[in-house]
Amino acid sequence: RFDAVLFDLDGVLADTAHIHFAAWRRLGEELGIHLEPAFEEKLKGVDRMGSLELILAHGGPEGSVTRTAEEKRVLADRKNSYYTAAIAEQTPDDLLPGARRVLEEVRAAGLKIALASASRNAPPLLQQLGIASLIDAIADPAAVKAPKPAPDLFLEAARLVGAVPERCLGIEDSVAGIISIKDAGMVAVGIGDPTVLTSADYVVPTTEQFHIGDFL
Ligand code: BG6
Ligand code: MG
Repeated sequence: RFDAVLFDLDGVLADTAHIHFAAWRRLGEELGIHLEPAFEEKLKGVDRMGSLELILAHGGPEGSVTRTAEEKRVLADRKNSYYTAAIAEQTPDDLLPGARRVLEEVRAAGLKIALASASRNAPPLLQQLGIASLIDAIADPAAVKAPKPAPDLFLEAARLVGAVPERCLGIEDSVAGIISIKDAGMVAVGIGDPTVLTSADYVVPTTEQFHIGDFL
């Protein structure tokens, strides 16, 4: 039924979703914009500049329009410096439980594996986590026209491993990512809460509960 599994990274394989949010919160505090815990869900899967725009808008209607593109770039760079400092010491011990097993099972089942992460930090993070060699291709978020929730990144990931969308399973922890997968014409597995990931075809609470055998 499937030829490839397309994985998101942050919150699916790597335990980094909360690290992204902590970095945004710190930037927000410096700007006088408080981000309540519920805001984390809105930022999941959203690329760096898109996240910054959501945060500035959260601070008030003036937040985005009064800043130049250069000022926004400086702010996004500052968040990224907080994030990269926080993940600098990540090792294979920081993989989400089950992540390596899932990748190994997918490979053993003869399916291709591609990464469809919005993160520009994905390639070095995969190296640090020791899973780069288990992944056949990485879709480059800079190489596609529109970020998640558009389908582009998942379609690019499928293309890289030579799979047609109908025979791809996409795995995501974000609302934006599930929309991407569905709009790409693929089957979507959500990792998280089914009342949040309402568009997913299947939802499992954590990566640990995912078994490719259930989908073959
Ligand atoms: C996604 C995360 O995987 O990558 C988002 O869910 C993050 O929170 C996005 O903003 C972009 O990451 P980066 O590392 O390029 O800033
Ligand atoms: Mg994610």
